[in-house]
Amino acid sequence: MTAQQPNAESLNPNGLNLVLVSTYERLIGATIERVWENVLDWEHLPWLHHTSFSDITLDQGGDWGWRTWSSPDKSSHIELVVASKTSYVARSFQLGKQVSEIWTYLNDRDSNTAIRVEFWLPDIDADRRQAVGDLMIGLYTTLWNEDEAMMQERQRRLDEKLQAVSSATELDLGKPEDIEAAVAAGQKVSFYFRGREFCLKKLDGQWLAHAAVCPHLLGPLGDIPVTDGTVTCPWHGYRFDVQSGRLPFSGSRQLSTAPRTGIVR
Ligand code: FES
Ligand SMILES: [Fe+2]
Repeated sequence: MTAQQPNAESLNPNGLNLVLVSTYERLIGATIERVWENVLDWEHLPWLHHTSFSDITLDQGGDWGWRTWSSPDKSSHIELVVASKTSYVARSFQLGKQVSEIWTYLNDRDSNTAIRVEFWLPDIDADRRQAVGDLMIGLYTTLWNEDEAMMQERQRRLDEKLQAVSSATELDLGKPEDIEAAVAAGQKVSFYFRGREFCLKKLDGQWLAHAAVCPHLLGPLGDIPVTDGTVTCPWHGYRFDVQSGRLPFSGSRQLSTAPRTGIVR
């Protein structure tokens, strides 16, 4: 599979009256490896960026990029194509007609990545360019803020995995009344056990521990409220049963096995 757009790696392959309405430059606090991982991960769009995207479903994807439907009736789609080792382009289409072309250039700066984003839109009158350009910059500031936070959290978890693991078989979490008060106040109560983080919650009057880290791409589950016995990861929407640790539907991913919790007086 490759991009459907012919000559996808070149600027303006459909010969539109494209106008560069604005450019966005920024230093992202994540490695270029994390950035590429994020760029090729279409699945986070409707979850991490739920204020900007909603109905996103995959049409096809691969090392070349991805193509998603962006409306339930499949009347619009987005195609993102890797153009080089340091650039990619995302084009949006409505009813088969291209409505935007956004180029992003990446520059490896050790543990950071400098980005430059160019917003090309067709047929924008001169008196609307500034307003439309500002709108695109505002949208992309939000998207990159959300992506940067996700990439940094994921990097933190990846680095954490490399740290020494204790072989303790028991852990004293403190006085039950203190924990009870913290949970009642809505505070996250978490602890590390054998190198993994778990969180403590109360479900139907019973204490319960579940993994604080999602087994998919290490998303945060510690702050997520339990709903119908499940927690839903905010990065890609995978939902786990907190008792069994499994996905309620078919799927092989599973939360780390939580230690048994109990009260000893
Ligand atoms: S990190 Fe992807 S669903 Fe949790
Ligand atoms: Fe993103």
